[in-house]
Amino acid sequence: MAKVLVIHGPNLNLLGEREPAIYGRTRLAEIDAELAELARELGISLETFQSNSEGAIVDRIQQARGSVDALIINPAAYTHTSVAIRDALVAAAIPTVEVHLSNVYRREPLRHVSVIADVVEGRIMGLGAEGYLLALRAAKSLIERAPRKT
Ligand code: DQA
Repeated sequence: MAKVLVIHGPNLNLLGEREPAIYGRTRLAEIDAELAELARELGISLETFQSNSEGAIVDRIQQARGSVDALIINPAAYTHTSVAIRDALVAAAIPTVEVHLSNVYRREPLRHVSVIADVVEGRIMGLGAEGYLLALRAAKSLIERAPRKT
């Protein structure tokens, strides 16, 4: 069975409570539950991981190397700064979909830069929690197009 890993970056553990006007009222556990349900429907083995720590995210991407067929990542604030996460994604060489709940281009200029934008297959943003479900469908298509590594 194809394996997909979803990585949620810093402060996304506070979804539902944190700036609901921007990020909505859906909690991270609900997003993960919806993802798990869709994964079952699509016949995908799914794992989700959240960390507030850049190093832990880098470690998880390194572990995924050779054992995960596609990645979905919302690096949250690290999107805009983390060369370490970018380097880990390049080293892992796993097809990756970048997700953001908000449309970062409607927000402060500091959020307009993504240091991973050019190393991912595609980007989904501005569609709230639904973006993760769309990303899972996209991940399935990417896996079907690319030869499986796991
Ligand atoms: C975010 C956008 C980032 O700019 C921000 O730091 C986040 C969440 C989003 O999902 O919209 O924490 O990645």
